Amino acid sequence: MLGRLNHVAIAVADAEKAAKIYGSAFGAEISATVPLPEHGVITVFATLPNTKIEFIQPLGADSPIAKFVERNPDGGIHHICYEVPDIIAARDNLIKEGARVLGDGQPKIGAHGKPVLFLHPKDFSGALVEIEQS
Ligand code: CO
Repeated sequence: MLGRLNHVAIAVADAEKAAKIYGSAFGAEISATVPLPEHGVITVFATLPNTKIEFIQPLGADSPIAKFVERNPDGGIHHICYEVPDIIAARDNLIKEGARVLGDGQPKIGAHGKPVLFLHPKDFSGALVEIEQS
């Protein structure tokens, strides 16, 4: 079952700088800046009442978002993240229905300490989808 929209991720060259206006102009709560070397990104979150905006910045030479930021120097929407109650059941069902799971198909621990997986944009109307166990 598809749960809440956990976050929308925006990839940028400088996550802290990008998040700043959400705090100063919108008064949103801005998280600390957290490097996630195993995902090749630096993250900053703006917390909204019903979801979060995740600013991601490339970390390291082989960051999976390095090319995206190169192509979109001003930044751009990178992925959307939905919560699912059971990530393994969700993954198996998605595969059964013909969706492609990126990587080795094994969930990794994401920015919130919970297992996540990414799904191929071609199977989701051109949008990169992340699922996170709720
Ligand atoms: Co994300």
